[in-house]
Amino acid sequence: MSIAEKFVAMEYGPAPEDSKDALAWLDHHQRRFGHFMHGAWVKPSAGAYFDTADPSTGEKLASVAQGSAADIDAAVKAARAALPKWQALTPHVRARYLYALARQVQKHSRRLAVLETMDNGKPIRESRDIDIPLVARHFYYHAGWAQLLLQEFPDYTACGVVGQIIPWNFPLLMLAWKIAPALATGNTVVLKPAEFTPLTALAFAEICHEIGLPAGVVNIVTGDGSTGEALVKHPDVDKIAFTGSTEVGRAIRSSTAQSHKRLSLELGGKSPFIVFEDADLDSAVEGLVDGIWLNQGQVCCAGSRLLMQESIVEPLIAKIRARMSTLRVGPPLDKAIDIGAIVARVQLDRIQRLVDQGVADGATCWQPPMEMPSRGLYFPPTLLSNVHPTSIVAQQEIFGPVLAAMTFRTPSEAVELANNTVYGLAACVWSESINVALDVSAQLKAGVVWVNCTNLFDASCGFGGYRESGYGREGGKEGLLEYLEPAWFKNATALPAAKPAPPEASNDETESATPALDIDRTVKLYIGGKQARPDSGYSMEVRSNRGQLIGEVGLGNRKDIRNAVEAARKASGWARTAAHNRAQILYYMAENLSQRRREIEHRLAAAVGEPQATAEVSASIERIFSYAAWTDKFEGAVHNPPFRSIAIAMNEPMGTVGIICPREAPLLGFLSLLMPAIAAGNTAIVVPSETYPLITGDLYQLFDTSDLPGGVVNIVTGYASQLLKTLAEHDDVDAIWCFADEGSAFAAKSFSTGNLKQVFTNEGRVIDWFDVKQGEGRWFLQHATQVKNIWVPYGE
Ligand code: NAI
Repeated sequence: MSIAEKFVAMEYGPAPEDSKDALAWLDHHQRRFGHFMHGAWVKPSAGAYFDTADPSTGEKLASVAQGSAADIDAAVKAARAALPKWQALTPHVRARYLYALARQVQKHSRRLAVLETMDNGKPIRESRDIDIPLVARHFYYHAGWAQLLLQEFPDYTACGVVGQIIPWNFPLLMLAWKIAPALATGNTVVLKPAEFTPLTALAFAEICHEIGLPAGVVNIVTGDGSTGEALVKHPDVDKIAFTGSTEVGRAIRSSTAQSHKRLSLELGGKSPFIVFEDADLDSAVEGLVDGIWLNQGQVCCAGSRLLMQESIVEPLIAKIRARMSTLRVGPPLDKAIDIGAIVARVQLDRIQRLVDQGVADGATCWQPPMEMPSRGLYFPPTLLSNVHPTSIVAQQEIFGPVLAAMTFRTPSEAVELANNTVYGLAACVWSESINVALDVSAQLKAGVVWVNCTNLFDASCGFGGYRESGYGREGGKEGLLEYLEPAWFKNATALPAAKPAPPEASNDETESATPALDIDRTVKLYIGGKQARPDSGYSMEVRSNRGQLIGEVGLGNRKDIRNAVEAARKASGWARTAAHNRAQILYYMAENLSQRRREIEHRLAAAVGEPQATAEVSASIERIFSYAAWTDKFEGAVHNPPFRSIAIAMNEPMGTVGIICPREAPLLGFLSLLMPAIAAGNTAIVVPSETYPLITGDLYQLFDTSDLPGGVVNIVTGYASQLLKTLAEHDDVDAIWCFADEGSAFAAKSFSTGNLKQVFTNEGRVIDWFDVKQGEGRWFLQHATQVKNIWVPYGE
């Protein structure tokens, strides 16, 4: 064979990595591990252990403790006990600990890489060159944030005790993504690694001990889903951070809904890999190797849906097949291996089942002729073509080395196909035209978009999803905010419970509801820029603070909410209106409110008394002015990760937001929530305060005279608790903001579990809307937006 032929064939001999050191470490622990809590190894309370094995050989590596609810309780107590002292340390001292963790990870990097590969089955090349270096980078980066915490987040405080649950696909890296920001912001942690891959978390526990991290700051409890569930349900945990399947994410969302636990979820994906006809096809094919065959395709952001422009299908498929034929499947400790073992039998069976279903749905399955290892859990690289966009393999996460290929004709068709999924984690766009690539990137519903590159990660760039891929970001400044809360909010007192609304049937007939009268004091709903009569044909009485009848408003029901959502969706062009123009409209509103202040004050005074009415109108004018100012200033960032790339972090609007206003401060509360939402480019459906819903009449005049496009703001009056349910359950509402009592906050979270809506509430606590620090600013704008990171490489 000539050198040229050898180069093409890429024939290599075996190059096995030595596992001696990792095995010696396991032996040192007698291949049996307890939990790590309060800085020491602890036997499981129920005495139960389970085995963890090498998926490439089936050989047992060690047995680890099965965590019970009692073990979780002990770990949470250790974390709680450690919290005051950990928080009392100076940021610099905490930064030194994080720095020491990074150094120690680097010192043990080879052993950690080998251990990861043995426990998980991923190629050593990946654990050595990707996973472990990124783990160290995360601790270094967050050591920096720990140092700068007080300067950069002066009015924030840590959540407290954080429960973290991680999956098996990037075991140590996911640990780093969770633990580094939590510690940097002054939280203490109980982490549960996945049952298939607990070993590197245990090695990390030892590292915490080695560097002298104070006892109880990091606690590791091993176990299965039931252990995770006990952590989620523990009453003394302040926040849960989870990475894993959407199914479990939804269960966690449901079981934390009736609590004040903060929650961040990084869930599944079905990410599109879009190749335009002007793309550099060879680069795209190499990108695909990383996109779908990295870590055997067991990657939440894997580019598992290949969308090809029709004109290049033949050459692209030919190149993909040729490249697939050179991929090597085999023992993951071999340095020349591309595809290692699948983590567990259950996952292997699941991949096969889904591929079979795809073929039954009409897809063509192609696998390169190759010799597969005779033992261990392996799946060959697989290409499914002619996949119908509705087929199960185009919709469900396969989590294996399986690529589902489809075609498109135009960029808009590509966008439509790409967004045709419940997920929204990541996307790749391949085109030599920067205009096409960026235009398409902006339209994709995904938290990360890689332009002409794929699967790049860095601690400085937030990672996380849209829609059912979860919410919250890991990495970057936005990732830190997941572990912080405004200090005033943490200490705010609870609002009294609201009076329950009459049963919903009473929408049709109720004592307090009277047939709608077309008199002057009856205020209608405001939908799509027009006044609308309520579908129910009924009105609701509004009384002054002295019990006097001062008017009536329409009694909105489900149908009205649906109409309002439809109008809001139609107005989605608002997101693309230039920020400058949006700002002008907000300024105009402030001006119009200012001109009409006397009459509005007068009417509002009937409900809340004159002093409050005067104060509310003044503060409202200022608040609108403030958000007009913010509109073109709440900008994103440009990150410089340590490769030749920039990552453009854009603050994108959530979409359509449903807002339940506070009862108190009917005007100021309404505007304090609506203005940040629309300043950021969202459209909104607002349910005003039941105390004084007549404000709607004044506001729609304000909007009409300020050139606000119809449908951007829609107002439905009625019983908030009833309207909240419809809003929270509606699939076309992207986020719910609920600022009423505790019961409403819990209801908002529970009702919106189905499609994992982002929920922003006051947790039933008092907010002083007159205090600029509490009622205005970045806290609201952050909830009105989600960060999309667009990675663009540069250089040759
Ligand atoms: P999983 O979501 O069940 O496991 C992830 C973690 O959650 C593990 O630590 C597990 O012990 C824990 N867990 C399981 N049930 C729990 C519960 N009720 N409460 C709290 N914690 C719980 O994922 P699994 O079963 O290992 O994989 C199934 C599928 O999920 C995969 O085929 C893949 O499609 C998807 N998956 C997605 C991941 C991602 O990063 N997006 C990661 C792992 C799995």
